[in-house]
Amino acid sequence: MIGIDLGTTYSAVAVVDRSGRPEILPNAEGQRITPSVVFFSGDAVLVGAVAKRSAAVAPLDTVQFVKRAMGDPAWRFETVSGQQFRPEEISAIILRRLKEDAEAYLGEPVTDAVITVPAYFDDGARRATQDAGAIAGLTVHRVLNEPTAAALAYGANRPTVGTVLVYDLGGGTFDVTIMRIADGEFETVATSGDRNLGGFEWDNALMRLINERFRAAGGPDLLDDDRTEADLRDRAEWAKHALTMMPAARVVISAGGSTQTIEITRAEFEDVTSHLVSRTRDIAEILIEDAGLVWSDIDRVLLAGGSTRMPAVRAMVAKMSRRVAESAVNPDEIVALGAAVQAQVLTAEHSDGAVPRPRVNGVPITIRDVTSQGLGTLARIEGTSRMENVVIVAPNTPIPASNSELFQTVVDNQTSLLVQVTQGDDRDAAYVKVIGERELSIPPYPAGALVSVAFAYDFDQTVSIELTDLTSHRSLGTFEVSDVANMTPAERDRATRKIHELEVS
Ligand SMILES: Nc1ncnc2c1ncn2[C@@H]1O[C@H](COP(=O)(O)OP(=O)(O)OP(=O)(O)O)[C@@H](O)[C@H]1O
Ligand SMILES: [Mg+2]
Repeated sequence: MIGIDLGTTYSAVAVVDRSGRPEILPNAEGQRITPSVVFFSGDAVLVGAVAKRSAAVAPLDTVQFVKRAMGDPAWRFETVSGQQFRPEEISAIILRRLKEDAEAYLGEPVTDAVITVPAYFDDGARRATQDAGAIAGLTVHRVLNEPTAAALAYGANRPTVGTVLVYDLGGGTFDVTIMRIADGEFETVATSGDRNLGGFEWDNALMRLINERFRAAGGPDLLDDDRTEADLRDRAEWAKHALTMMPAARVVISAGGSTQTIEITRAEFEDVTSHLVSRTRDIAEILIEDAGLVWSDIDRVLLAGGSTRMPAVRAMVAKMSRRVAESAVNPDEIVALGAAVQAQVLTAEHSDGAVPRPRVNGVPITIRDVTSQGLGTLARIEGTSRMENVVIVAPNTPIPASNSELFQTVVDNQTSLLVQVTQGDDRDAAYVKVIGERELSIPPYPAGALVSVAFAYDFDQTVSIELTDLTSHRSLGTFEVSDVANMTPAERDRATRKIHELEVS
């Protein structure tokens, strides 16, 4: 079983080798990470570095950052020739390439995987990730939180480490997680983050800055054209990497008959991105406070994600935590390594003792995660027509989790109940998101009949809901939130055939 870090910008694959250590599997081009970019070129579909290069040449046939769209039922990518793809399908194409490269490297078929997701991913995005794996021909045994994976990779070869804050800033998402690690036991205490905060936002800020300079020097607006925009994005990312190592970087931009060399200093770059760094700091500080902790309770700070290479990020984390943050040699590989450790734990569990469970200091590895977002339902406030949100499973509840709440019918002989499932932990209905709803029938009773609404969260943090009529003590039905945001089994089957028929390389 392999571990896959399906990243917004780069993906990586790892497996636990015979000596028990997780190792990165290089792709067919010999690279340890593969750009999560897909390029549709006639009948051929390219994934990875070549596809990334094509963005500036054929921006309308190139798709990247699809992870941001996972769980969005309305999103479609349409190629110039009119083929349409859902986010699950684009992700499945990337996964197919990763799977096939792993098979080539290992010299054996690969059918089973653990795939990581941002801790802050919601139910719909998690299901979409599982579906993408299935469409790619993989059995996804666990959807694992990325910070948990990072901590697993970090703690798998170190005895007793205490309370660790994982600061994970990747290409598309920010996660911050507090974990307790003790000889093989990995327990998540609390987690928070922003699904849409990553290196992408730093690139955007730098793109705006370069574009302003280019226009001030008489050039056209680079953001007005898909091709110049894609080219600018590529150069901005390159300049961002250069600014990690050097105090200034130069980019050459040619458009509309104008060619300019633009120099950006690190100070200028940090100036236009300082609000992003501050946002990650605020999220981390609020998390610590909400967990009832103070910085002196945190023993170690672990950095994960390629964007933590940026000096401004490291400096802010050091200042905020008053600690020297630790990081893997390659912060963009650590999540895949952790996924491989989780994969090995699951392989051992399924093997009836044939495969030993990975251990730290002799203690078998156990992993305990928490829910990242509150879940509840809208209910009418008694005597009014206003709705309020009732949280049924609070954020940071250990999973698997289940809980139920009692509700009353509001009118006599009411024959149906509308269950609106919410995400968020505010009482005010305006501050939560309705992620699914279902109307269920109930026998006619006088108003005030009791109904219990039970939520269950499994290891993958996917949710199922059951309503019970407490008058007759009968179930009124069960449903899953995925019914709304995700593919039906028939759609999944169709997508599997469609992706299988493509020539992916
Ligand atoms: N030397 C560097 N300096 C600045 N940024 C870097 C550097 N190296 C990589 N990055 C940035 O790190 C990001 C990629 O990191 P990583 O591979 O961890 O993210 P990801 O897994 O694709 O995204 P996510 O985890 O958010 O889904 C990109 O935005 C990339 O530009
Ligand atoms: Mg990542």
